[in-house]
Amino acid sequence: MASKVIKGGTVVTADLTYQADVKTEGGVITEIGPNLSGDEVLDATGCYVMPGGIDPHTHMEMPFMGTYSSDDFESGTRAALAGGTTMVVDFCLPSPGQSLLEARQMWDNKSTRANCDYSFHMAVTWWSEQVFNEMPEITKQGINTFKHFMAYKGALMVEDDEMYASFKRCAEIGALPLVHAENGDVVAQLQEQLLADGNNGPEAHAYSRPPEVEGEATNRAIMIADMAGVPVYIVHTSSEQAHEAIRRARQNGIRVFGEPLIQHLTLDDSEYANKDWDHAARRVMSPPFRNKKHQDSLWNGLQSGSLQVVATDHCAFTTEQKRYGVGDFTKIPNGTGGLEDRMPMLWTYGVNTGRLTMNEFVAVTSTNSAKILNMYPKKGAILVGADADLVVWDPNKEKTIESKTQQSAIDYNVFEGKHVKGLPRFTLSRGKVMIDDGAVKTEEGHGKFVERDSFGATNKALSKWKELTAPRKVERTGIPASGV
Ligand code: URP
Ligand code: ZN
Ligand code: ZN
Ligand code: ZN
Repeated sequence: MASKVIKGGTVVTADLTYQADVKTEGGVITEIGPNLSGDEVLDATGCYVMPGGIDPHTHMEMPFMGTYSSDDFESGTRAALAGGTTMVVDFCLPSPGQSLLEARQMWDNKSTRANCDYSFHMAVTWWSEQVFNEMPEITKQGINTFKHFMAYKGALMVEDDEMYASFKRCAEIGALPLVHAENGDVVAQLQEQLLADGNNGPEAHAYSRPPEVEGEATNRAIMIADMAGVPVYIVHTSSEQAHEAIRRARQNGIRVFGEPLIQHLTLDDSEYANKDWDHAARRVMSPPFRNKKHQDSLWNGLQSGSLQVVATDHCAFTTEQKRYGVGDFTKIPNGTGGLEDRMPMLWTYGVNTGRLTMNEFVAVTSTNSAKILNMYPKKGAILVGADADLVVWDPNKEKTIESKTQQSAIDYNVFEGKHVKGLPRFTLSRGKVMIDDGAVKTEEGHGKFVERDSFGATNKALSKWKELTAPRKVERTGIPASGV
């Protein structure tokens, strides 16, 4: 591959802002500095050169609620690149009873079409000796994160004893557990009651998952992880109650990470009151959208560092698929899209409003994920030797989000009509220009699997701590004769 120089831009990373050209060759960054030359020049005048986005939470072609999410690795990663995201981390989802190794193989087959690099989390959807034995095999295959669902009772949900056993196994093998934290038992009861009372529309989805079910489960997951001696990562943190549990734990020295979604940051629960059934159903996801108080809490968390990354949980269903739930909200496939819009929406509502600095933007859209998931600085960095996954960001480029022009395969967009300012001029995946001033030049199959080793720094520190503070029998000298 010919060398390229990104010229005349301002480099923005998680910790620095400075004028420099960036040269790439053979898929990696080879030089950073003034007046560089190369075979090809990309003009970055007036732009910020940033690490490409990493979305730590997506579901491509996911089997869920009787159907499959409609974006596959091809359309999903094309949408990602169009919005400046150069890597996604998707979930291998064994059906209950299925081997983790078999699920991994299935996701390998789906992901051959990816346009950008990707990695996997493995879900623990059931528990047995087989799962216990397969977990270290999975880490040897470059997957160091295991997801647990505390919701979706009767489907993906695991019980507390199973979660504790799995967390302890994660501690042993140096892996990081991820948790979907909602109290699945209470949700199931609320769903039943709402349906019995004739509340069968999409708005009832939100009523069945109040912030308390999330706050309770988040705290439970954190406490169980602490007892197991393992860090924990809470996915799609959407409420003050959940954030509060995370914040409090962090203040007490517990290693917990929180991941708000761009949807929860910018869309609220008034969407479910829309008179149009389709409009409301298209926004059904778990946890549901919340009111302003919760949104402010999530922004505050990003600003103060108690929440670390912004994801999408991209899980896109068409209107036709959403209509499986007409007459029964519990059958509406849960999930929303967002991959193409995450970076422009966060820039518009975060950086352009002064809530986030540009460096904080890079941290929460890319670098923090790379560090927490243990793939830094291969990803998430602008350093010599790092992968040339880059976005040349034009802060003056604007558009109104429209499903008509989006890359995602679905027929609507939850951000429809939102005006964004700040868009990619170029997106590069390992040095190849995939988005060129709005023109899509993606290459199906270009994306490669990124291996992530176990025993990241936080795991190491925690296992050392647990080892030093483990229960120890006190060897005594004067033992009295046993009592009467
Ligand atoms: O509603 C959601 N979030 N759908 C995707 C699956 C999950 O729970 O992450
Ligand atoms: Zn979830
Ligand atoms: Zn998810
Ligand atoms: Zn290629």
